[in-house]
Order: sequence, then structure tokens, then C-alpha cells
Amino acid sequence: MTQSPKPLRLLLCGMGNVHRNFLRILHTQSELLRERHGLSLIVTGVTDSSGAVYSAKGLDSQAILAAKAAGKGVASLKGGQAGMDASALLDTVPADMLLEATPVNLQHGEPGLSTVLEALRCGLPVVLANKGPLALGYEQIMQTAADNKVRVKFSACVGGALPTINIGQRDLAGARVTRVEAMVNGTCQGILRMMEDGHSFDDALAEMRRRGVVEADPSLDIDGWDEAVKLVIIANAVLRRPTTLKDLTVSGIRDLTTAMLHDARARNERYVLLGTADPDGDDWRFAVRAEALPAAHPLARMSGEEMGVVYHTDIAGTISATSAEADATPTAAAMLRDVISLAGKEA
Ligand SMILES: NC(=O)c1ccc[n+]([C@@H]2O[C@H](COP(=O)([O-])OP(=O)(O)OC[C@H]3O[C@@H](n4cnc5c(N)ncnc54)[C@H](OP(=O)(O)O)[C@@H]3O)[C@@H](O)[C@H]2O)c1
Repeated sequence: MTQSPKPLRLLLCGMGNVHRNFLRILHTQSELLRERHGLSLIVTGVTDSSGAVYSAKGLDSQAILAAKAAGKGVASLKGGQAGMDASALLDTVPADMLLEATPVNLQHGEPGLSTVLEALRCGLPVVLANKGPLALGYEQIMQTAADNKVRVKFSACVGGALPTINIGQRDLAGARVTRVEAMVNGTCQGILRMMEDGHSFDDALAEMRRRGVVEADPSLDIDGWDEAVKLVIIANAVLRRPTTLKDLTVSGIRDLTTAMLHDARARNERYVLLGTADPDGDDWRFAVRAEALPAAHPLARMSGEEMGVVYHTDIAGTISATSAEADATPTAAAMLRDVISLAGKEA
């Protein structure tokens, strides 16, 4: 008889679209995880804006999902603690890994930044979907991880399941990147393609909200900041160039009209929210702006549910990748692949 693997205990910070999907896929993938990866995953603690709930033996995911579907906080669950934060949870319940999916904050990075640093100091590997801590504290996070001999993974932060970071860090080993082009903001991509089809900006934004891909503060998407943060992460993680938002010129899609999108189509072009990294002497130049690309460009061919990245390289040719993501499930899947990787179980 095959022995069940010892459960890997997870703490989940934030219980919104991403982590609710994560709980669902833990259930649907449990057999595959056990058989292919020798992994059994349990959740020993969860936070949201109401507080926390925890159990050393593992929480009941269905009860958490039912409470959230009913509009209740996790503190309302049996054993829940109103006002308990991730720091208190780390002190209270045993865990092997922490997953961070609270809202992005580009002013101070909290609560994610403190949570991530504290978990690393406690010796826990960390998986992030929240880009804010990386945008503001990439080097501090990596240094803290190195000091405590643990690892951090964040593949969900740059295009959900699109393997932007994995291609850049792993598959381009030995190559130099000579240019990066990225369209990694699902909200803007969805809005622009819907506007091309005759929908108003407001209707398109409402549809993106329904899909659960819009940031808690939608201006982060629309004014280009979400894509800018992702470019900052690519710059740090793939180009190994210490970079912050201050190094980028950033604009969004607010000024684009349906007429401009239609005129572009008539010229056989398509507008996308384009993020680019280009060599500039010995350094790099980074920009995010709406740009009309030739219709044959890999990023112009994408549908409203796709995101994509193009790496131009010296020896590995030009690599383009796209992914179609209709909701937050693929982002949860990206967190799961990071958990598997950190657990050393990439079979
Ligand atoms: N959605 C996507 O497709 C996607 C893709 C890639 C990356 N991300 C990133 O993943 C993160 C989560 O996204 P999401 O769509 O799941 O967001 P969301 O639906 O807005 O959920 C955010 C969660 O964080 C909780 N929260 C807020 N403040 C908190 C605090 N101080 N302490 C603990 N929990 C707190 C919220 O609590 P309540 O439930 O009580 O409000 C909610 O459960 C964001 O950083 C986002 O940028 C999202």
C-alpha cells in the first residue's frame, strides 16, 4: 500500500479571487499532486480583512469558501479570531510555507511586505501573487531570503500562469536578453479588445470586474501601474538590473478612444498596453504606454483574454509566449506550481 506523504502545511494571506481559486484547485488536483508529485497539501491558517482562522490539523476549505461566498470574513468561522493578522498567525500555528495574495499597495507595500519578510525570517519559503512587496522591496526580500536560507517564488505576479519569469530565469540560461516586450495586464487587454468590438470603456471594465481580474484599485490597471510593476519584476528577476518604478516612464489606456482603435485597425494595427525594456548604452530604458503594433506582431494577435511576453535574445532567438486566462484560476495554478517547486517536487 502506498503511504500518504506527510502533509505540507500552508498559510494563506488574503482570501479573495486568487486564494479562493487556490482552495478549489487544491481539491480538484489533490490526486494528481499525490500521484505525480508525492505531495499532500493542507491549509493550517488563513487571513482576510476580518482576521484569521487556523487549525494545526488543517482547515475545512469548503467552510471557508462557503463563508466567503456568503460575504462573511474568515474570523466568523468556528475558532476564528477577529483582527488576528499574519504575524500573529505565524506565531500561533505550525506551517511549512506562506502564500501572499492580499491587495497591491504601491505606497508602502503593506500588509504584504511585512508578512513576507517575517515569514522568511521564520524560515518559511514564500510564494507571492501580490506584486506590491516585490515592486518596493525586491532586493530586501531576496537578501532576507538568502540570509535565512529559504527561497521565494513569484511566478503568478507577472501574467498569472504565463511563464514570464520561468522562461526568463530558467529557459534563457546562458543567453543575453536584448529586448523585452510584454503585455501582461489582463484588464487593459480585455477592455481594449471589447472597445474594438463596440463596447464602452465602462461596460468593458465592468466585464473585467466580473471575471475577477481587476485590481482592488482599478486605476492601477488602467493607468499602466500594474504593468509597470510587472516590468520592474522582470527587470530585477530576469535582466538582473536593480529597478524600481522610478526608473520607468508610465502611461495607460485612459486616453484611447473607440475611434482611435478603429483607425488603427484600418491601418492593420492594434493597440496594446505595451511594456518594453530596451538597451540604453550600458543600461536599460523601461517604458509602459499604449502603442499601436502591426497586426502580425505576436502581442497584437492576442484575444481579450490573453497576455503575452516576447524575449529577444543573443543566442536563443526570439521567444514569444502567450496564455489565455478567463479568470483568476490560472493565477492560482501559478502559485501551485511555485509551491511544488519550493517543495522540491517538480517531477
Ligand atoms: N485576480 C487576479 O487575476 C490576479 C492575478 C495575478 C496577481 N493577482 C494579485 O493577487 C493579489 C490578490 O488578488 P485577488 O484578485 O485575490 O484580490 P481580492 O479579490 O481583492 O482579494 C484580496 C484579499 O485580501 C484580503 N485583505 C485585504 N486587506 C487585508 C489585510 N490587511 N490582511 C489580510 N487580508 C487582507 C481581502 O479580505 P476581504 O475578503 O475580507 O475583503 C481579500 O480576501 C493581489 O495582489 C493581485 O494583484 C491577482
